Amino acid sequence: MHVSLDQIVRGVNDLPALPHVVDQVLKLTEDPNSTVKELNDIICQDQALTAKVLRLANSAYYGYPRRIGTIVEAIVILGFNAIRNLVLAASVHNLLNKEVPGYQLGPGELWRHSIACAMTARTLARRVRYPKPDEAFIAGLLHDIGKVILSVYVSDTYDEIFQKVRQFQIPFSQAEEEILGFTHAVVGARVADKWNLPESLVQAIAYHHNPQLAKENPRLVAIVHLADVLCMTMGIGLGGDGMYYSVVPQAFAALGLKPEDLESIMGELGDLFIDQNAFLPTV
Ligand SMILES: [Fe+2]
Ligand SMILES: [Fe+2]
Repeated sequence: MHVSLDQIVRGVNDLPALPHVVDQVLKLTEDPNSTVKELNDIICQDQALTAKVLRLANSAYYGYPRRIGTIVEAIVILGFNAIRNLVLAASVHNLLNKEVPGYQLGPGELWRHSIACAMTARTLARRVRYPKPDEAFIAGLLHDIGKVILSVYVSDTYDEIFQKVRQFQIPFSQAEEEILGFTHAVVGARVADKWNLPESLVQAIAYHHNPQLAKENPRLVAIVHLADVLCMTMGIGLGGDGMYYSVVPQAFAALGLKPEDLESIMGELGDLFIDQNAFLPTV
């Protein structure tokens, strides 16, 4: 017997809300009148979060040569946008770092895929002059969050889905749609909605496998889609879901890119991912 979307939505409701601190950080970093002190005071209320943010800030991910010892230093050196990303990444780390057995993702693999996709999305955003590269980072980070929820349910039907993937050589999300009636992308969008994230992020998550269907902000959706396919092409966090995905032609068109551009983009990313462990600390 297959699970219904209603049952899944209940699973989404059981998911913890984003910590209050994260909500406040998102608001403060959007407000040009906020001060370093205000931001510091909010983050430091949560010691575990503070420790994770500092570990991420000191990973090779930011490539900052000197040790960042306090949140104030991190804010001043890296800036408000970077701090927002670090706080959000730190707060979803536990959720994404778990094993996701329904998708054959071992411990840490979804996190690796998510952070790589976030960095790829930000790189692409800069390349195509999308005005908010940080928004692209967050969309990339959260695009597969629905897998965490769906994994519990997909485990039962995994064999059936996977058989369909193999037999018809279709993407996993298409097999999900055909067998379950919905995909991890739809479930992920529900999570983003529950977390009160902006509609552009909800859409980017909902349509990351079908960017041509996005009603809002098609460029952001195309960036996340392309970043996801690139990360899968590079073999980062594949699991059972990594086969038979390709770039939807409309995504190239939305970004003004050509398939030939991918080679140089992947070259740039190769430099970024040269030492994966360095920017993926176990926080
Ligand atoms: Fe996905
Ligand atoms: Fe993905």
